Amino acid sequence: MTIDPAPLPAGLRALGTSDTPFTAVLDAAELPPGAMRRISRGDLDILLANTSAGLVAVDDRCPHMSAPLSIGALDGCIVDCPLHSGRFDLSTGEPVRMPTTGGLDPDGRYHPTWSAAGLPPKEDPPGKKAEARRLTRVRRIRYYPVRIVDGRIEVALPV
Ligand code: FES
Repeated sequence: MTIDPAPLPAGLRALGTSDTPFTAVLDAAELPPGAMRRISRGDLDILLANTSAGLVAVDDRCPHMSAPLSIGALDGCIVDCPLHSGRFDLSTGEPVRMPTTGGLDPDGRYHPTWSAAGLPPKEDPPGKKAEARRLTRVRRIRYYPVRIVDGRIEVALPV
């Protein structure tokens, strides 16, 4: 089985990874097409995903409120967050569906709360809670350089 790394989206490289050595983290055979795995090193949790656009390594934290994307669902290169159903394109780092709680997207545009089909409409909560939701932004995902050497997935981890 061969997996090619997906191109790293411009401007979305994780901090501290520009000049760091690669570390072997997983056998490539353990990540078939469509699979996601969390790997942890110290305080860092990384999501490895074998997407339709190629292999990606990103923070295993939703850019909305830090839920582990690795226990969500992957469809092609779209990952669905298990907490508020936000969807993110792992080939670009962009949200493709805002979370149910609404809020500001990465460009600062406001999106209202929403409910899944068949559920009653949600209201914005009053006062500070509404403001907190508004400011709980969806930021773009950050990427770690990744490669495959001798059947092992290697990631450039920050020092
Ligand atoms: S934490 Fe992922 S959509 Fe809210």
